[in-house]
Amino acid sequence: MRKNIVAGNWKMNKTLTEGIALTKEIAYATSGKNLKCDVIIGVPFVHLASVTELLRESSIKVSAQNCADKVSGAYTGEVSAAMVASTGAKYCIIGHSERRTYYGETYEILKQKVALALENNLKPIFCIGETKEEREAGNQNAIVKAQLEGSVFNLSPEEFKQLVIAYEPVWAIGTGLTATSEQAQEMHSFIRSLINEKYGDTIANDTTILYGGSCNSANAKELFSKPDVDGGLIGGASLKANDFVAIIESF
Ligand code: 13P
Repeated sequence: MRKNIVAGNWKMNKTLTEGIALTKEIAYATSGKNLKCDVIIGVPFVHLASVTELLRESSIKVSAQNCADKVSGAYTGEVSAAMVASTGAKYCIIGHSERRTYYGETYEILKQKVALALENNLKPIFCIGETKEEREAGNQNAIVKAQLEGSVFNLSPEEFKQLVIAYEPVWAIGTGLTATSEQAQEMHSFIRSLINEKYGDTIANDTTILYGGSCNSANAKELFSKPDVDGGLIGGASLKANDFVAIIESF
């Protein structure tokens, strides 16, 4: 059976000191509890080594928010998948809409990033989702399908099984406009049907599909109650321990 996951994406927030404090708060608030989901925190690169060390004894896993599309070498400012893995991080967010929009990450670049993450035993949290204009034009299904086909449907079944998919409608990210649980369920079910067509029933049923976009402690329970919504990728509400833990406890 697939895992339920609540993952935080801190984005470009928190200094190292603040990040360590937040990690401690989350670890303290969840320790000894019988959680009904896995917990991941997606932290900035410079936090990775310290945060993984802090969480060595914890069940909370650590994710990077990006990795380079190259193996190594003269790429000033880049951080490779091997470097991320060497910190003890187990996951890597790839294809977030902010990376696609602000940093020009194409389907092909994302395909390279996913391949390199997998080669380094990182599980990609692969993000897909349509813009407001695309939804208004009724193109959301076609967009999500193209994003999967463009960057991850080239993978072997064994490789694909390592992925977590995050459906994040761009119009819901940071806007306070959440998809309704019906909209989320409809899209998650569509995504699962695409995975089924490509990789078959077992892999489709075992793939965790997270919802992201203004998910918070007030709406998480309703969203997570839907059969194909296996948890959330949380931005703003992952920056406060109380809010994040309340979302975790929605399961
Ligand atoms: P918000 O929860 O702040 O809308 O961000 C969602 C997101 O982009 C998570 O990756």
